Amino acid sequence: MTTGAPELAPATPANIARAAALIREGALVAFPTETVYGLGGDATSDRAVARIFEAKGRPQFNPLIAHVPDAATARAQVQWNGTAERLAQHFWPGPLTLVLPRRTDSAVSLLCSAGLETVAVRAPAHPVAQALLRAVGRPVAAPSANRSGAVSPTQAQHVAHSLGAGVALVLDGGACTVGLESTVVDLTASQAVLLRPGGAIREAIEAVIGPLATAPAIGRPGALHAPGQLESHYAPSLPVRLDAVAAGPDEALLAFGPDVPQGAALTLNLSAAGDLAEAAANLFAMLRALDRPGLRGIAVMPVPHHGLGLAINDRLRRAAAPRPPPH
Ligand code: TXA
Ligand code: MG
Repeated sequence: MTTGAPELAPATPANIARAAALIREGALVAFPTETVYGLGGDATSDRAVARIFEAKGRPQFNPLIAHVPDAATARAQVQWNGTAERLAQHFWPGPLTLVLPRRTDSAVSLLCSAGLETVAVRAPAHPVAQALLRAVGRPVAAPSANRSGAVSPTQAQHVAHSLGAGVALVLDGGACTVGLESTVVDLTASQAVLLRPGGAIREAIEAVIGPLATAPAIGRPGALHAPGQLESHYAPSLPVRLDAVAAGPDEALLAFGPDVPQGAALTLNLSAAGDLAEAAANLFAMLRALDRPGLRGIAVMPVPHHGLGLAINDRLRRAAAPRPPPH
């Protein structure tokens, strides 16, 4: 892991090639898009995505956008439909993000989509972003390249000031032309829903696909697609029991650290070494693997509540929360 201020490099073809190689190795690179600078990592690697959350100091695992060069590459990751096709024809490459059901053969990490059955995809228009994405050859997860809660960066210097340790390189492509994040539209229901207003304006979108629904207010029935707003968010089929110090023969055990109690039907360890970044990278995949029919529940050992542990515990708390009634 790098320390101190990240290297700032002009977005020349040679530096773009170096940035692509770094991303393919699992490192993080900040790069310009037309909206804001993104903090990019390999979207197919749980480890790289965990590093993004760590570098941003995100208190929660908000789902990240998987960036692709064009609609053809998006179609390999999500279940495409006619509405997506029309929107992509009008707005891609550009500041519009589409939320679609994950393909069963999608390579995008579960951590990137925060365990949801959907994936957000966007093809940015900025020539540096385009060149980088084509050179990486994999979807790139990229939230805005700022510390969580801070103002989004629209110049390379903003990134260098805001983020330090963990960012290998900042590609300087000048100031962002759009300067605010992409519009996020959910296309998983019969009517498209505006989840986040942004660079692609609502009226222009509605001119192409008709009226957009507005995301329902927090906590209202139907407010299903706004991650982080529902108490029960990532919910396996089995009940989840937190702060377990022992597990029964009819339970699965999600362990953490070197001292693991014996006796569970099935045990997976988030990190035997007690490493929180490793635990974050393993979390969603292991919860799924332990969610086996015939068991009484999943017992989860305590995870330290600092650093990435806050995000891990946030997700675990949601996994253990009372479930919304079936509808
Ligand atoms: O303009 C942008 O979109 C910038 C540049 C770098 O592309 N990226 C950006 O990422 O703003 P971020 O992580 O700051 O915001 C992503 C938004 C969040 O509101 C998140 O909840 C939503 O997209 N999102 C991502 N995946 C989603 C999903 N599967 N379902 C619903 N919302 C999703
Ligand atoms: Mg952001």
